[in-house]
Amino acid sequence: MNTSNTFFGHPIGLRTLFLTEMWERMSYYGMRALLVLYMTGAATGFNPGLGWSQVESQAIYGIYSGMVYFMVVPGGWIADNILGHQKAVLIGALIIALGHFTLAIPFEQTFFLGLIFVVLGTGLLKGNISTIVGQLYEGQDDKRDSGYTIFYMSINIGSTLGFLICSWLGEKIGWHWGFGAAGIGMTFGVIQYIKHRNLLGDAGMHPNEMSDDKRKKYTNYLKVSLIGMFSVIGAGLLGFFAIDPRFFAEQFAYFLTIIAGLYFLYLFIFAGLNAKERKNLILLFLLFIGAAAFWSGFDQSAGSLNIFARDYTNLAILGYEIPVGWLQFANPVIVVLFAPIFAGIWAQLARRNLDPSLPLKFAIGLLFMALSFFVMIIAVKIALESSPVGMQWLLLTYLLQTWGELALSPIGLSAFSRYGPKRYMGQMFGLWFLASAIGGVLAGLLGGEALDGGLETISPIFEFMIQYYLIIAFALIVLSFVIKTAKE
Ligand code: PHE
Repeated sequence: MNTSNTFFGHPIGLRTLFLTEMWERMSYYGMRALLVLYMTGAATGFNPGLGWSQVESQAIYGIYSGMVYFMVVPGGWIADNILGHQKAVLIGALIIALGHFTLAIPFEQTFFLGLIFVVLGTGLLKGNISTIVGQLYEGQDDKRDSGYTIFYMSINIGSTLGFLICSWLGEKIGWHWGFGAAGIGMTFGVIQYIKHRNLLGDAGMHPNEMSDDKRKKYTNYLKVSLIGMFSVIGAGLLGFFAIDPRFFAEQFAYFLTIIAGLYFLYLFIFAGLNAKERKNLILLFLLFIGAAAFWSGFDQSAGSLNIFARDYTNLAILGYEIPVGWLQFANPVIVVLFAPIFAGIWAQLARRNLDPSLPLKFAIGLLFMALSFFVMIIAVKIALESSPVGMQWLLLTYLLQTWGELALSPIGLSAFSRYGPKRYMGQMFGLWFLASAIGGVLAGLLGGEALDGGLETISPIFEFMIQYYLIIAFALIVLSFVIKTAKE
């Protein structure tokens, strides 16, 4: 490594990945904050939206969020076996930019096509770029963890930029300007990546070693799948069949859950694990359920909570009506402010040998999530008496959810790589994203139910969510007494 040319003392290639991820997340979160507002917006008048129902719109949002993270799994496979991670990130970034620009064209077909491109592009980019971060470090380099921490900051700087620019343009000027701005952001990321990709050196350059025949076979599989997929998508867009979004979202949720369940079962029974590995797998299984539940609440920010901000919250600051999406600033800003504090607390506790075990940290994350929805139930109660309510309610909700995120998310991935069976390491990454995918689609389904009858139907759904957070948190706490060794 050339030490005269580093990025905060890290390999200079981290800068390339940092900026690429920053722009990608700018486009992702910027567009996502507009999505349900655009779909549910009145179909006539200034800045007309699509005028779709809450149930449909939230279901589409859920399918989108679920698909984005589900596609990380095939995206990883394609990078491992065909493209190599570096090239996968480049192609992914190009497809994402294309997706946002397609969304900027105001037709219903281009709306869906744009979302599909963003899904496919993110599948190629999101997981693989994180893999390259790890590959910048050699062997057991203990800088790797702090490299990932810096990388996590790029995510939050990116989403802040996204809310700032896309929400303002989209809501105040016109939806399609907001989508276009996301595309321009991603284009900056692409240009930067192309210019500075050489700084990555060999990291993520080569796919797995295999015979030419095998690679050809894999490439053919991919081609056939792509042709099949685009034929179905094309037929759908041309109106040959119609899909009920809620029905599709429900089936997709079952599908993801079954896939995850079968995978765990396969590992448990057929992977030849010893007793200790099996015990760890049970731990991971519960953490997986905890993570999926957590994200099903967390992803309400761009779903039901976004609508609560629009319809029932007073957004005026000193006489200026801020864009609805700006409330979502709270999450990235709080991550940046509190990440060092959380790290400090864990370190202090560790010194006294009191640092919470993995399941306990997940339980803490879920308890914060439960508390955040408890706050929302109070806000809904007040709004039922007199709407709109002040924005402090949503801000407090996001504060609690973000504390939850800080307890659960940064350690989740390392937990999966540490406690997963060694021979299946590569797939643990996909498994972690699969939990986000399940959370995303559930978020859309629950958000739709919550908003189906206006304010009245919100609290029963949020109460139901609080119940399952508490049950899973309780199970994890019990587990933490059984498995004492699982320190992160
Ligand atoms: N803010 C995180 C990100 O965008 C949320 C997340 C965590 C998403 C884990 C997917 C998986 O990266």
